[in-house]
Amino acid sequence: MTDDARNNKSGAPRPLRSAEWFGGKGKNAIMSRSWMKNQGLPADSFDGRPIIGICNTWSELTPCNAHLRDLAERVKRGVYESGGVPFEFPVFSVGESTLRPTAMLFRNLAAMDVEEAIRGNPIDGVVLLGGCDKTTPALLMGAASVDLPAILVSGGPMLNGKWRGQDVGSGTAIWKFAEMVKSGEMTIDEFVDAEQGMARSAGSCMTMGTASTMASMAEALGMTLSGNAAIPAVDARRRVIAQLSGRRIVGMVQEDLKPSDVLTRHAFENAIRANGAVGGSTNAVIHLLALAGRVGVGLSLDDWDRLGRDVPTIVNLQPSGRYLMEQFYYAGGLPVVLKALGEMSLLHKDTLTVSGGAIWDEVKDAVNYDPEVIVSRKAALTQSGGIAVLRGNLAPRGIVLKPSAASPHLMQHRGRAIVFESIEDYHLRINQEDLDIDETCVMVLKYCGPKGYPGMAEVGNLGLPAKLLKQGVTDMVRISDARMSGTAYGTVLLHATPEAADGGTLALVRDGDMISIDVPGRSVHLEVSDDELATRRAAWISPVEKFDGGYAALYVKSVMQADTGADFDFLVGRRGSRIPMDRN
Ligand code: FES
Ligand code: MG
Repeated sequence: MTDDARNNKSGAPRPLRSAEWFGGKGKNAIMSRSWMKNQGLPADSFDGRPIIGICNTWSELTPCNAHLRDLAERVKRGVYESGGVPFEFPVFSVGESTLRPTAMLFRNLAAMDVEEAIRGNPIDGVVLLGGCDKTTPALLMGAASVDLPAILVSGGPMLNGKWRGQDVGSGTAIWKFAEMVKSGEMTIDEFVDAEQGMARSAGSCMTMGTASTMASMAEALGMTLSGNAAIPAVDARRRVIAQLSGRRIVGMVQEDLKPSDVLTRHAFENAIRANGAVGGSTNAVIHLLALAGRVGVGLSLDDWDRLGRDVPTIVNLQPSGRYLMEQFYYAGGLPVVLKALGEMSLLHKDTLTVSGGAIWDEVKDAVNYDPEVIVSRKAALTQSGGIAVLRGNLAPRGIVLKPSAASPHLMQHRGRAIVFESIEDYHLRINQEDLDIDETCVMVLKYCGPKGYPGMAEVGNLGLPAKLLKQGVTDMVRISDARMSGTAYGTVLLHATPEAADGGTLALVRDGDMISIDVPGRSVHLEVSDDELATRRAAWISPVEKFDGGYAALYVKSVMQADTGADFDFLVGRRGSRIPMDRN
């Protein structure tokens, strides 16, 4: 820390924001201090030392985050050690496995809560505690809009799932076993038995699903201490990094090191490349676009496509590969991956992290302890691991595909559309014996985008019809405006923009239309003439339910399309920490 950073130009210590509440002998200061003291705080707690918020998405209804209060205690130790005073506060918790209709409906709500809770309270810096999928982007988005010093600590992944001596990956096993039950390879009793060992410790999904992806994104962006992403939730070193992060936030306040210093365009470019290298979730596309919008970095889907093209997927984790987060941690975790990217000239080495130093300095000495788990460039799962963005009349503003989770033989494909007008329609008809479908068909699902569902459900990885599974078919092309779980896999084209409910061409597809996709050529085409599409459009009436009020109505009115991150239009941007009015 330089003296310039710590002091203002006159050389006097920079007054902290919390002093506006707690400083001096005025009536308001006495009131603010005296109420806080009901928690048993010594008088010198408010003598000008940094006040640190611990923004906690803990909830017992978010099982992946149920252990975060323990981590908050560890953060507090670190804050005290560095001379700060910590205060833990709760925010809306988004539980992926529990919240209905879909957790994504509430990411923006949680981000609003985070933003307002940070800004409205007497804090100088904040430690963000998250884990389950949407909690990490919600925390980062809210904190970025306030732009007080902030550091993220992840809850960490669960220990590997286990069943009958084998590793069982969160989510990925559910998709796989459900298909095996349908195809007759597994009994329903075995499936229920496997349930017992799927989630056997505290923590988030231990595949490279959205939670582990977003933890990796946060680390690649520089918003966590190095090594944060992979430490299992129940490993003692998870507590250590929480404590170290508590120590560090106090320094960040003194240095005035803010998210806007860290979340630069280069940081996002590093994160996009890290996503390709780890075989990360397609959900990261949406979350990073939304986060970039908060800090004014003009990130686009084209950046995802361009920057990811030559990134090899070198992390051999489910759903793209074989292993799970425990092995990733033992192999060295994300620092090894970032080092490898640096050696391939795919990393901006000088981007700043919450450490106050350059990212390269954090990772350059990382050692790969398991080349089976973090493989060489030559042995990569795919040489172009980045997210592919396709365009065409079916999705003029883009549709995304994760090549590392898709089938090579379907990368160029032409097939007859089998259309499902809603997810309910899909459930009703998918296993009917007379459904006229074969493995060359393209399954199309409508009205599951941000406005259509609403909340853009994770249903895009439509399960294959039982009769085809029984024939040994393992993958088919699927197209929708939905998302898919980061734990899912298949040749699944997602996030079609504009979505069907917003009048996108997807709404106009009919059974029997031919659709061609060309992933190397980045195109997706509905082989229907413009005239015919115009006729269909003229007759189109949106079937989507309208909401009279409540949060869902606000959501549908304000949500932007997937190509800009599905944030609310009124939440884009950085509003800062200033509070425009004072209480007198
Ligand atoms: Fe919470 Fe997967 S359900 S991380
Ligand atoms: Mg999910």
